[in-house]
Amino acid sequence: MSVAKTVVVTGSSGLIGSEAVAYFDARGWRVVGVDNNMRADFFGPKGDTTWNLKRLKATCRDFHPVAEDVRDRAAMARVIRDARPELVIHAAAQPSHDLAATRPLDDFDVNAVGTLNLLEATRQARDAAMCDPVFILLSTNKVYGDVPNELPRMETPTRWDYSRPEDWNGVREDMRIDRCMHSIFGASKIAADLMTQEYGRYFGLKTGVFRGGCLTGRNHAGVQLHGFLNYLFKVAVERGRYTIFGY
Ligand SMILES: NC(=O)c1ccc[n+]([C@@H]2O[C@H](COP(=O)([O-])OP(=O)(O)OC[C@H]3O[C@@H](n4cnc5c(N)ncnc54)[C@H](O)[C@@H]3O)[C@@H](O)[C@H]2O)c1
Repeated sequence: MSVAKTVVVTGSSGLIGSEAVAYFDARGWRVVGVDNNMRADFFGPKGDTTWNLKRLKATCRDFHPVAEDVRDRAAMARVIRDARPELVIHAAAQPSHDLAATRPLDDFDVNAVGTLNLLEATRQARDAAMCDPVFILLSTNKVYGDVPNELPRMETPTRWDYSRPEDWNGVREDMRIDRCMHSIFGASKIAADLMTQEYGRYFGLKTGVFRGGCLTGRNHAGVQLHGFLNYLFKVAVERGRYTIFGY
């Protein structure tokens, strides 16, 4: 009988984490989820992800959630040591620009230091020959700050778009990430993004960094400050008022 592979998913009750849990559970993996429901602390009752955790517990076959905090270094070392995973998907985060401006210390502790805690836990387990997982970080296109605004744009009847066809499928990964404004959130995510790359290059961990943007789905606890597409639909259906923030 073959032994199931194990994946550790952080942020397992959030949008991306919960989709990863369901995906790997359906493919026969053992899934260890890490989520302390900090989204409720960040965004209030509407950000609470307990309903999503309950859904996963009811529908998954081999899902093992733990309510640990990625800021807790010893706990992260324990989770990785105990799970001995083939794969780590790190999707726990403080995900909002606006909230980061009001709680910069929490933002950095969760996004940057939390990522370092997991990378180091993974390296130590790898060096002790316990496991040698692929480590995936959910980064963000906000690492490019406002540099994409330098690309040529054109006005169409319904919206603005990039003028050059080569920009239509997204900005290039070699776009510069410094000498621009990011938001406090963007800067803490760059720290995590670069540290994950560095653990790959310097320590030889098998790391991958994905810079997503505006991802959505019905399993998002969309709130005004994060998850805008989900929230936009909620406001439209409930005929509420939608506020546009920006500069
Ligand atoms: N949704 C998007 O549009 C989008 C776009 C680009 C990048 N990302 C990135 O993907 C990742 C996941 O985003 P999401 O949309 O699923 O966010 P989300 O808020 O839905 O999920 C994050 C989860 O992490 C948990 N969490 C927060 N702090 C924690 C902590 N200290 N310890 C343990 N768990 C904690 C939250 O409770 C939440 O369930 C983030 O890194 C985000 O920056 C998301």
